[in-house]
This record gives sequence, structure tokens and C-alpha cells, in this order.
Amino acid sequence: MRSTILFLATATFISILAMTGITTTPAATVSADKPLTIDQKVDSLLSIMTLEEKIGQMNQYNGFWNVTGPAPKGGDAERKYEHLRKGYVGSMLNVRGVKEVRAVQKIAVEETRLGIPLIIGFDVIHGYKTISPIPLAESASWDLEAIKRSSEVAALEAAASGINWTFAPMIDISRDARWGRVMEGAGEDPYLGSKIAVARVQGFQGSDLSSPTTIAACAKHFAGYGFSESGRDYNTVDIGTSTLHNIVFPPFIAANEAGVKTFMNSFNELNGVPATANTYLQRQILKKKWGFDGFVVSDWGSIVEMIAHGHAKDGNHAAELAVNGGSDMDMESSLYVAELAKLVKNNKVKEALIDDAARRILKVKFELGLFDDPYRYCDEAREKEVINSKENHEAVLDMARKSIVLLKNEGNMLPLKKDGQKIALIGSLAADKNSPLGSWRIAADDNTAISVLEGMKKYKGNTLSYAKGADVAIGETSFISEVKINTTDKSGFPEAIETAKKADKVVMVLGEIGFQSGEGRSRAHLDLPGVQQELLEEIYNVNKNIILVLNNGRPLSLNWADENIPAIVEAWQLGSQSGNAIAEVLYGDYNPSGKLPMSVPRSVGQVPIYYNYKNTGRPTEPAPDLVFWSHYGDEKNSPLYSFGYGLSYTSFAYSDLKIQNNYSANKKVIVSVELKNTGKVKGKEVAQLYIRDMYASVTRPVRELKGFEMVELNPGESRTIEFTLTAKELGFFDNSGEWIIEPGAFEIYVGGSSDAKLKKEFDL
Ligand code: BGC
Repeated sequence: MRSTILFLATATFISILAMTGITTTPAATVSADKPLTIDQKVDSLLSIMTLEEKIGQMNQYNGFWNVTGPAPKGGDAERKYEHLRKGYVGSMLNVRGVKEVRAVQKIAVEETRLGIPLIIGFDVIHGYKTISPIPLAESASWDLEAIKRSSEVAALEAAASGINWTFAPMIDISRDARWGRVMEGAGEDPYLGSKIAVARVQGFQGSDLSSPTTIAACAKHFAGYGFSESGRDYNTVDIGTSTLHNIVFPPFIAANEAGVKTFMNSFNELNGVPATANTYLQRQILKKKWGFDGFVVSDWGSIVEMIAHGHAKDGNHAAELAVNGGSDMDMESSLYVAELAKLVKNNKVKEALIDDAARRILKVKFELGLFDDPYRYCDEAREKEVINSKENHEAVLDMARKSIVLLKNEGNMLPLKKDGQKIALIGSLAADKNSPLGSWRIAADDNTAISVLEGMKKYKGNTLSYAKGADVAIGETSFISEVKINTTDKSGFPEAIETAKKADKVVMVLGEIGFQSGEGRSRAHLDLPGVQQELLEEIYNVNKNIILVLNNGRPLSLNWADENIPAIVEAWQLGSQSGNAIAEVLYGDYNPSGKLPMSVPRSVGQVPIYYNYKNTGRPTEPAPDLVFWSHYGDEKNSPLYSFGYGLSYTSFAYSDLKIQNNYSANKKVIVSVELKNTGKVKGKEVAQLYIRDMYASVTRPVRELKGFEMVELNPGESRTIEFTLTAKELGFFDNSGEWIIEPGAFEIYVGGSSDAKLKKEFDL
């Protein structure tokens, strides 16, 4: 009977509750046949829930036993199981697969007093089984449609596997390539980051959240996590108001406006207060100012971690601080379920806050359609049909091609000729079927990516010889273990050198293995790990015709390669179809169009390095050799490769930059530019517009991206591109977080990277 109660979507819902003997005081008065709104249903349900049941909705457990096997015995698992059966668990994560989800959902629906279904969460970060490029790579495409499609595919597969909530997109802006989690975000820029945040939210959630092909998204990590000091994961964050409002917040604002259903807070403290208990962030900004009406989940154990942070005295205090601070759901700290009822009884926490949190969570469950049918995501036939389908692989291949960035192509080394060439392929990453899957690929099967070796073998007109050269890491690596880098074993060098000697061209695939970036995987060095640099130089000694293909989860500073190697391709970790995409680009079947979403430093010492920096009072060299200006004595200020940079097999020219300043009349400034394909093949270019607000009450960066457009042109073809600047593009947040537009002088730059030279000025 209980399960039936909650599937009903009409006014009869309340009367049926009454029939079961459960006394209700429905908050909403309803007429007999008018369907209830979701808010009314939530209120009705809340009115019959005990305090413990409401707190239960706020409790999330990680999968803790083999769900389809016998009930867990002993200790923690037994206690958690008991909680599940009592209705003291609102959500579970890491339970996946229709069989498992159905089994766990059945307990919630059939054994608990009210039969409230669970919301099932999972880290669907860049694909579920069919893996897309890592998010940083996808962001390099600047192709919002493709990114949206990639999230759609991820949602489709996850939803077919019983999951209805992803902990993505990760929209933390970061300027620090040492931080391992840059692979998971959209890079350094708040404008690009906001557009991508929206594309991903729309991709995951679709236009109908209750469809069994879409899932709820989660904007994370709120906030400031990408600014962890010295790039060390989980580290302290101390940033000022201007950076917080203008750099960190914009993607979260955009995700909220796009209707993201949930937020996740972050492990870090922000200016002395852990994000998890940060009333300013979660209550004042997110829920009040931005009007977010979904729920906030803590990060994994971040509530209990506030004791180690030195913010909470004990678990009881941590639960109090977190709930008062606006964290609605406790991921894996087990503190809400243990402490909240006591805290309410002792008047440390208002019951209204518990109601508010439970209401937010129940609302999302209703929106997902879980009350209409808690098993709507549990269809074995769909699971079989959807996962790893041909269409999904085509979508991630498309995304992978678009994510590749051509960094250097001296003497048109690329594309490779398709016939009669002897090609040497070198590097353990070239044959690696695991690393392209990245580190967030929990559901993917190991070794399922197409390797570069496999991709290149399909081009049969050339002779391909492969030699490993050297391993990047020693032994097996996994999601939870530290990677051990090979710093000594060069036994494969002689074979690689011999292979290279005989070749016309050498393709070397070097970089990082999949588990070297991601959570907990910060690096203090940004060069090629292990003996790979030595390998590169030794091969260069015998054959200079090298194409360096980088596989990596973060920008790497490769000054020697930039100086010496004629062609460099940034191919990140591209997911299941990696090798096919790389081979197509190397052979010119796909003309690369990616642009860097993060600056590539020349040296770790330059980090944090980003294009939208502020000018100092001494920005330029006063005279050669004079020292008192803002610079390094031993390195340039500029990055090795700039934000927005990327080449093509064709070339583009920008001209005729015009500004129509109608701001006083209709609040619009129209910028137009002529873009021409000046090369010999068809190609795509991402035309970028940057502004500089020359002086302001709070100083503005030297450049800020405020528009971009991807254009495909045939050789010789031109097109006029138009950008519109409004108050949204021309203003900024002042130090009290208010959006202001100040009159004054502006510069506009348009071109193919953040170094764009074409410039015009106007006054606002
Ligand atoms: C990560 C989150 C993730 C969560 C659940 C945490 O360690 O920081 O991003 O969603 O685990 O797996």
C-alpha cells in the first residue's frame, strides 16, 4: 500500500494517505480533481513526516554492501542498513546498474514507513561507460553544442543504469595547473566557464527532468576550490571579494540560471570558514541572493572534516554548523543522522531549517518523477540497448576530435601523408588503452579506450612501427592509489632509437597517465614525468622529424619541446575514442580547431598564470636591463602558449574591426570583424572578443573574454562576424558584490587567441 501512495500524482494523494491511517495536516488545501503542484505535494508529505524521517532525507550513504546479495552483517554497514530500512537515508551514491539500484530502491519504497524513494547519485563526470574527453579537453573545443551533446550522452547512459543524479558539472575556475582537478573543469576563464557550465547543465538535465533519459546535475564545488593554495588539493583558499565575485561565482550564477537542481559545496575553507558551514556562501549568496531552490549536498565527509579544519569542536558541533550554514544533505559524514534530532531538541538548530532542507530534497525527487515511479530509471532492456551504443561512441568521437589543440606545426609537418611513409610510433602512452579514460571513469571498463596505436593502424598506406621507449609509471595504478613514476627504467630506449632511425617521421606520444590528474593528484612539477624528456631528446638526436602528441590532464610546461620539436599536438585524455580522434587529426581527416582553455606556463614558478591578470603600476620594462618593473629575472612573464590559442591546417586573417557604439541610445555596442580563411583547406576558427575597461573604481583585468564564435570557412572564403556587448558584458561586480557599469574608455581586441592584436577603442 505504501508504495502506491507515493506514486499518485493527484489530489487523491492526500486522501489516500488518510486511508492508510497516517494522519495528515496537509499544508495545501486542494480541490478534488485539480492536480497538485509539486510544492503542494512536498508540503503534504512533509506534514506527515517525523523529525527523524525529515533528517533521513538529508542523509546520504555510499553503497556499503553488495545490494543484490545478503543483508550486511556487523558494524557500520549493519547500522547503515538499519537506517535505510527505517527511512533514515534519502540518497545513496555509487550504487549503479539497474539490478543494484532496483534492489536498494525496493528497500526504500517497500520497507520504510512512507516509502519515499532514494535519489541515486554518481560521479558521471565525462561519460558513464562510454567515456568522453576529460572536461578540460572538451572545453578546448569551445563548441557548446558538442559539449552539451556529450553531457546528454553521459546522462543517457547513466540514467539507463539506474542513476538519476550526477555530481557534475565541476565548474571551479582555476589558474593553477599544479592542481590535479583542473582536468575536471573548464579552465581559467569565467566567461567561457559560464557558457560551458550552462551547456553541461542543459545536457545532463535536458528539457524534462522526469524523462528517464535525463538526470539532475550538480554545480560543484561551491566555492573557491580551484584556488587551493599552491595547487595542493584540499588546501586553504584565501581570496578577495573581487576575485570571488568576478572570477569564482560567474559559472555558478550561470548554472543556477540554467536551472541546475543541486549544488555541492567544497572541501576547502574560504577566507577562514569551511565552505560546508559557510553561511555567507550558501545562505546569503546562493539561496537568498541567487534564489536557488534546489538542494546543497556536502562534499564527501566535508562535514566531519570541519573538526580537522579547526572549525568544529566535535561531530555534534560540525552538524550544527553545517546545517545552519546551509548544507542540506550530508554525504558520508553520518553526522546529520546522528546529531540533528538532538540539536533540534536542544534548540541549537531550528526545525524550520530541517523542513527547508527536506523540502528542497523532496522537490527534486518529485521533479525527477521518482514518486510517480521509483523504478523509472530501472529498465534492463534500456540499459542493454543504450550503454556503449554505436551512437554514443560516435558522439564521444566527435567530441574527441573537436577537443584537440594543434600547438605547433613548423614546416607543415602535419598532416601526415597517407601513403608510402615509414612512421615510427613511440611512447608507452601510444599503446595505452586505459589512460585516455582519465581518472574519473568509475563505471568504465578498464582498457577500453582506442589507443593511438590502434587508431593509426587503420591508415594502411604507411608502414607503422611501434616501440614503447619507456613506461611512464611503474606497476598497476588505480583510482585510489598513488602513482609511482618510472624514473630509472630506460631499457626500452635502444629499440625506440632504432625504430626512429629508420622512419620518415616519428610520432611520440608522451605526457601523463590517466591517474596523474584528478582528485588528490596535484603535482609540484609540470614537465614530462619520469624519463620521457630524456627519451624525447634521445630520439631527437637520431631523427628530428618528430610530431609530439601530448596526453595529459593539465597544462604541461614543455619549453625544450617548444624550441626543438617541429609539431606539437595537445591531445589531453580523450576518452573511449581517443586513438581514432588523434589518428584522424594526424592524417588530416579532421582539421584541428581547438583552442586552449588554460594558459600553458613556461615554468612552475609563473603559476598562477592567466590571461586576465591585472596590470601593475610597473607593467613594462623602463629600458633594457633596468630592474624595477614587474617581472622575473630568469623567465619571461608570458605563458608558453596563451589562453585561447590553437592552430589549424589552414590559416585565418582578421581585418576591418568596427565598433558601433549605441550604448547611450539602446545599451548596445556592436563590434564587427572580417574573418577570412587564407589557407588551402577548409577549417574552423574560434573568433574571440576581449575587452579592457581602462580605468574603474575596482581595477579591471588587461583583457576579458566577452564573446566568441566558431566559424567554418572554405579556402578564400570570408565572413563578417558580429558581437553584441551589453551591460552584461561591460560591467563588473564591485567589492560589495553589486553589478555596476562605469562610464569611461574601453579597448576591444578581436582575434584567434587572448593575444589578439586587432584593436579599437570606444568610450562608454
Ligand atoms: C569529490 C566530489 C565527488 C564526491 C563523490 C569527492 O571526493 O570532491 O567531487 O563528487 O567525492 O564521489
